[in-house]
Amino acid sequence: MGVTGCLVLPWRGLVVLCLRLLFLVPAGVPVRSGDATFPKAMDNVTVRQGENAILRCKIDNRVTKVAWLNRSTILYTGNDKWSIDNRVLLVVNSKAEFSIQIQNVDVYDEGPYTCSVQTDNHPKTSRVHLIVQVPPRIVEISSNIVVNEGSNVSLTCVATGRPEPTVNWRQVSPKVQGFVSEDEYLDISGITREQAGLYQCTAANEASEPVAQNVKVTVNYPPYISVAKNTGVPLGQKGVLQCEASAMPHANFSWYKEDRRLTEAEKGLRVDTRDTFSRLTFFNVTEQDFGNYTCVAINKLGNANASVILYGVSAPTVATLPPEETTAALTPLKGPGAVHDGSNSASWVPGCPWQVLLLLLLLHVTLQF
Ligand SMILES: *[C@@H]1O[C@H](CO)[C@@H](O)[C@H](O)[C@H]1NC(C)=O
Ligand SMILES: *[C@@H]1O[C@H](CO)[C@@H](O)[C@H](O)[C@H]1NC(C)=O
Ligand SMILES: *[C@@H]1O[C@H](CO)[C@@H](O)[C@H](O)[C@H]1NC(C)=O
Ligand SMILES: *[C@@H]1O[C@H](CO)[C@@H](O)[C@H](O)[C@H]1NC(C)=O
Ligand SMILES: *[C@@H]1O[C@H](CO)[C@@H](O)[C@H](O)[C@H]1NC(C)=O
Ligand SMILES: *[C@@H]1O[C@H](CO)[C@@H](O)[C@H](O)[C@H]1NC(C)=O
Ligand SMILES: *[C@@H]1O[C@H](CO)[C@@H](O)[C@H](O)[C@H]1NC(C)=O
Repeated sequence: MGVTGCLVLPWRGLVVLCLRLLFLVPAGVPVRSGDATFPKAMDNVTVRQGENAILRCKIDNRVTKVAWLNRSTILYTGNDKWSIDNRVLLVVNSKAEFSIQIQNVDVYDEGPYTCSVQTDNHPKTSRVHLIVQVPPRIVEISSNIVVNEGSNVSLTCVATGRPEPTVNWRQVSPKVQGFVSEDEYLDISGITREQAGLYQCTAANEASEPVAQNVKVTVNYPPYISVAKNTGVPLGQKGVLQCEASAMPHANFSWYKEDRRLTEAEKGLRVDTRDTFSRLTFFNVTEQDFGNYTCVAINKLGNANASVILYGVSAPTVATLPPEETTAALTPLKGPGAVHDGSNSASWVPGCPWQVLLLLLLLHVTLQF
């Protein structure tokens, strides 16, 4: 009962009094011994939250009393457990070592622990710091956002861990970029369409591997028509008019001929529309098809249009070759020397067989008579 009483009393003075009763601490504050090597507690102990820590204290046979303290609270004196914490266990109590284990360490266990011994009536202490690490964890991060071009964007990423994790941001899509922020805030003022993509927040500390999370930033902008070319097609052939537009969200396309809107149901005509382009296909171009076509791309931020002319050309002649092919055909494949060598060695051979045949025929004719 007396022992337990000492433990639960919160007042430092009474705790010291308890220690004094145990002859572990002399009058006055416990001080580090002049003999720095004894007792020898291990260096600072670093463990991850949830792991077990062993606090070792090397002693020798001059020692008469031993104790481990958490700050000023006694955990063990010899084989006697004072701590009511069932995570605290005695692992070695021998002439050479007095060691305890703290299981399932948590952050509040971090701090100084003292191995205290009594040798020839002299108390001595050795101190070890228990350092508790916690892997980084992202506890709060901005959600995916959709903004209009030119907006100011702020992303936040809050991470916990011990030691305090370092947090940074970088862009990982459409291509991987360097860091765009070295802390938990990423501010982009006047965002452009090129800055759209995936941004990754990374939190790292010594406790374990870094952790990362992505935020998708979508930047809306009005349509911009990048390709719309006038096209020449011979009568009776297939003709294609194409209009390409970039926009976010993707544009809706429509086609006009002069003032008339073209529909999917047009005779001899097909309209193919994808996210970024629209294509008119004329299966068999007639005179009536020639003319001025207008492609209109529209999304909620605006619209753009471009006019393209479908015009007639005479049927292409087969003879026309692209310049690259012409050049390639003129390039000699062998040097003149190689050709010369070949003809030299073979010059008399082709004459031989028919001369031999004629001789054989003459012999044959002669022998028949
Ligand atoms: C042990 O930890 C304490 C507190 O963090 C620090 O002041 C001291 O320098 C450390 N000692 C060693 C040997 O690392
Ligand atoms: C050590 O002391 C701290 C502060 O009083 C306490 O929160 C923690 O539970 C103690 N740890 C052990 C293992 O006794
Ligand atoms: C964006 O931030 C700039 C300063 O960085 C400020 O001048 C501007 O007014 C902000 N724009 C909006 C729409 O908040
Ligand atoms: C294209 O139309 C013309 C006139 O209507 C017709 O004579 C011709 O056979 C058609 N060609 C094809 C490939 O359908
Ligand atoms: C085609 O039509 C558009 C719109 O109607 C007009 O602005 C443009 O000048 C026309 N192009 C030609 C070559 O006539
Ligand atoms: C684009 O077309 C879709 C479906 O036809 C329609 O729901 C949407 O409102 C259109 N958007 C615009 C900006 O016209
Ligand atoms: C085409 O764009 C011009 C301005 O660039 C606009 O005045 C015109 O109304 C547009 N035409 C259509 C059919 O949207």
